[in-house]
Amino acid sequence: MSTPLNTELVRIQPWADDDLSLLRLLNAPVMMEQLGGPETEEQLLARHERYVNKDGQQTSKMFSIVLLPDHTPVGSIGYWDRIWQGENVYEVGWSVLPPFQGKGIASAALALLITRIKQERRHKFIHAYPSVDNPASNAICRKLGFTLQSECVFEYPPGSFMRSNDWRLEVASVHFPIEKVREQLPM
Ligand SMILES: CC(C)(COP(=O)(O)OP(=O)(O)OC[C@H]1O[C@@H](n2cnc3c(N)ncnc32)[C@H](O)[C@@H]1OP(=O)(O)O)[C@@H](O)C(=O)NCCC(=O)NCCS
Repeated sequence: MSTPLNTELVRIQPWADDDLSLLRLLNAPVMMEQLGGPETEEQLLARHERYVNKDGQQTSKMFSIVLLPDHTPVGSIGYWDRIWQGENVYEVGWSVLPPFQGKGIASAALALLITRIKQERRHKFIHAYPSVDNPASNAICRKLGFTLQSECVFEYPPGSFMRSNDWRLEVASVHFPIEKVREQLPM
């Protein structure tokens, strides 16, 4: 039976300086099997800097997943912009440490993330591209209401290609610029 979606189990918190130790755990070989293998120390530190996002970039937001009530750090989740088939979309990605897997944590974190993305209204669709060989991530997309578009060849990390599923969720009609509204108002 499917694990019930329990968003009170977890919180997602903007990635912070002290999440580097969590990132190191998430970089374990078993965690990175479908993500191009573990990163070097240099790559990891660069990733951490991007995640902390000190200059407040709007096009990419990463969060730690913490387990309540103790705020135990158990994973990462986030979204960033991608151009997909000529359209600006959100892409989402996630990881949960092995001892905490299978408890509905990634699903709950994704539900919370979708709520945040919906408030932005920058793009119409969220996409996720899990490997066809990642049953847990494909199950999460299905459970959260994404629609399977097609199988695709996906480049991740740069220079490495995998067979992925393209999942899509409609989150908003895109923000309509006020100038356009004015243009359409009767004079
Ligand atoms: C993918 C990952 C984030 C899942 O995290 P999680 O917290 O265990 O996920 P959840 O418990 O919320 O949900 C997992 C779902 O997958 C299902 N699932 C897990 N293994 C499965 C399998 N082999 N076949 C079918 N479904 C499977 C579970 O039954 C569950 O669905 P349900 O709630 O409907 O029963 C975690 O395994 C992970 O971090 N893996 C390594 C990194 C990775 O692959 N990241 C994602 C890249 S796209």
